[in-house]
Amino acid sequence: MADMHAGILGTGHSYPEGILTNAELERMVETSDDWITTRTGIKQRRKAAPGEYTSQFAVRAASNALERARIDPAEIDLLLCATVTPDQILPSTGCIIQAELGANKAAAMDLVAACSGFLYGLTLADTMIRTGQSRYALVIGAEILTQYVDYTDRGTCVLFGDGAGAAVLGPVDANRGILAARIRSDGRYLEQLYAPGGGTRRPPSAETIAAGDHFFKMKGNELFKVAVRSMSEISTDILDEAGLRAEDVDLFIPHQANQRITDAVAGKLNVDNDRVYSNIAMHGNTSSASIPIALDECVEAGRIKENDLVLMASFGGGVTWGGVLVRW
Ligand SMILES: CC(C)(COP(=O)(O)OP(=O)(O)OC[C@H]1O[C@@H](n2cnc3c(N)ncnc32)[C@H](O)[C@@H]1OP(=O)(O)O)[C@@H](O)C(=O)NCCC(=O)NCCS
Repeated sequence: MADMHAGILGTGHSYPEGILTNAELERMVETSDDWITTRTGIKQRRKAAPGEYTSQFAVRAASNALERARIDPAEIDLLLCATVTPDQILPSTGCIIQAELGANKAAAMDLVAACSGFLYGLTLADTMIRTGQSRYALVIGAEILTQYVDYTDRGTCVLFGDGAGAAVLGPVDANRGILAARIRSDGRYLEQLYAPGGGTRRPPSAETIAAGDHFFKMKGNELFKVAVRSMSEISTDILDEAGLRAEDVDLFIPHQANQRITDAVAGKLNVDNDRVYSNIAMHGNTSSASIPIALDECVEAGRIKENDLVLMASFGGGVTWGGVLVRW
């Protein structure tokens, strides 16, 4: 199958109507719009209302992507939902989305790789399509992170938001589609971003909930350094693998975690600002939804043209990181 690649045939996104602004956070914790803006670039983030849940946004994002790709849900062979905030523990949010869409032929599952989840999903879908295991794949990143954010911890609560993004993949000519994809992780850094409670190790109880063990804990400035190093290294690696250089990249879509991380990675790669996409001001960090939301915004705004080279890179809790290079 050397004459075939997996390509992105359609994208979509969706997010809650609710908006949490920096001004509102100023009333909740000791912070300021000025601190949040200068240290992160974030001005607002979307926040799901009570009663809203992850698969609702995932289904909307996936439906948009399927429509754009002109693929019937019944044709999907593989459905991957990247999320760290599933609807429930069993079954997978992937299976819930499958039933909602009527994607009845698909093998559906969840993928837990935090903010790298969408690129993990693209990488696995790419392999499944190129080996002929699947013809069409639906990869979704969907999160309601605000349910796991401690709104008394100013170090984390300003960062995270909710939303979902999706992409439909299928076979394309070998001169297009995914040219290189790589995913990595290093569990030695697991305490840089984690939620200690709520699983079998520390089962949910009145005690764990009172202690806030289900909330995200983060070592922000350590993670910052890992993020810059891992995203720039993996980007260079996949460009090398494809025999391309940073100058060839038409659009760089990094995981939206912090504007200063984006600027540092783009600086290391030598990709100038007008080739870097940022929506961090509007969305904050939506974990696995961040890259597919950004990708779909770029498609909608006409920022990606046929034949453009699009570089995506991510890092997240685990720690995990990944890079995917696509010829559009
Ligand atoms: C979290 C992050 C914004 C903090 O920025 P920073 O420049 O590293 O700031 P530090 O953590 O060193 O803290 C500097 C000071 O600001 C304070 N501070 C932290 N959050 C604050 C807030 N929201 N408002 C005001 N002050 C804040 C700290 O308490 C600290 O005060 P101190 O010097 O009196 O102790 C930044 O480290 C970051 O983005 N890291 C990556 C996190 C990430 O992306 N996580 C998701 C991974 S996918």
